[in-house]
Amino acid sequence: MYVKQFDLTYNDYMEETIFINGGRKLVGEVSVNASKNAFLPIMAGCILCDEQVCLKNYVHISDLALMREILGQLNVSSVLSGRELVLDMSKLQNNKLSHVLTQKMRASIFLLGPMLARFRSAVIAYPGGCKIGTRPIDIHIKSFKSLGAKIIEKHGYLFCNGENLKAGEVTLDFPSVGATESLMMCCVLLKGRSVLKNVAKEPEIVDLEKFLQKMGAKISGAGGDCIVIDGVDKLHGCDFSVMPDRVVAGTYILAVATCGGDALIDGAIAEHNETLLAFLRQSACNIDIEHDKIRIRVGNRLPSIDKIQTMPYPHFPTDLQSQMLVLQSVCKGNCVLKENLFESRFGIVPELIKMGANIVLNGNTAYIQGVEDLFGADVFATDLRAGAGLIIAGLKAEGYTTIHNPFYIDRGYEDIEQKLRYLGAEIKRREI
Ligand code: UD1
Repeated sequence: MYVKQFDLTYNDYMEETIFINGGRKLVGEVSVNASKNAFLPIMAGCILCDEQVCLKNYVHISDLALMREILGQLNVSSVLSGRELVLDMSKLQNNKLSHVLTQKMRASIFLLGPMLARFRSAVIAYPGGCKIGTRPIDIHIKSFKSLGAKIIEKHGYLFCNGENLKAGEVTLDFPSVGATESLMMCCVLLKGRSVLKNVAKEPEIVDLEKFLQKMGAKISGAGGDCIVIDGVDKLHGCDFSVMPDRVVAGTYILAVATCGGDALIDGAIAEHNETLLAFLRQSACNIDIEHDKIRIRVGNRLPSIDKIQTMPYPHFPTDLQSQMLVLQSVCKGNCVLKENLFESRFGIVPELIKMGANIVLNGNTAYIQGVEDLFGADVFATDLRAGAGLIIAGLKAEGYTTIHNPFYIDRGYEDIEQKLRYLGAEIKRREI
């Protein structure tokens, strides 16, 4: 599988392991691909039109392959050539989205909004995804109900009737990224003005707004607390380039901070990772920013950061929590790291302890006492970001590390071993 193919289906991401001989500094240049979390809602948003959409910088990761398969259930044809994905909605049909696919990815719920907008009805099996907590969808359901949708939850499915949907004002109980995106994609086709309040402000929301505008939507305010939408009758196809992945950029930055070295991360937008960069500057990392490149230079072992907590953007992201936890495990001093978004997002901790880390967990808080070094071990990825964190730990550790379940990592990182080899890492895939 590590022979690069260009049209992998979800099932092609089969079981393998990642093998690392750690203990090297990371030196060189690495580039960041387009954002998974921006791509997924944008792909869902394509069904808002009945023409073709060309997405220019496709990323070869299994979550996007899965979204293509889910769209296939709605009779959307997708043709991938290299990095160009053309989705054709001319034969779009309102079909049930069964649990066979939706249970594999939480982002399948993003289709609720566009399906309601296009068909005024939707039947979607409950979404799944990485096991990082209960991850309810009550905010999604409550919001659509407040716009007039009737939603019945039965037999693991959401049966949604949108005949009486009307534009209106919705205030989210919490700024959920997915609920904000799904609502945006519904309201662009609802007659009249919708005002969405207490929305998520993540850069991916801004990218979705740009995409919807390119399709002809009248929408503004993304990136702030309130999004205003004037519904239009119809949207059209377009070409679009999706923004770079701030989590992937942050992962490479944290890898260098943990292992030491000197690396240029190309395609990393500093503004999207300000909290992370502020923490690293506070830890005396050398960081230089030039347009869409970040250079990070780290010589000695870094001091710990006293307190870190995950919060919605622009605060420190939960998607970099595991990777940050690995860095703090080898810093000089103590760190208290609190996870406020997903209650089960500490799956990495028992694995890191196997590698010599000194971490005590109490509820949603990890107490980390930095150790001088980690040692290689056989470890298991428990979710996407925990997997990325384990790669960083393996790169730092003395000796050999084998990471099982790398299919979690393949959900969001394209060719991560090759990219790390560009930085001098000794890392490879092995079939079991
Ligand atoms: C998105 C990201 C994910 C990231 C997360 C938080 C995508 C594809 N995924 O996930 O990588 O970790 O944002 O930044 O973009 N919640 C509810 N009820 C709901 C919805 C959410 O209680 O109806 C809670 C969640 O359990 C969680 C918090 O709100 O505690 C944030 O979730 P949300 O912002 O919705 O995350 P996702 O959109 O699923």
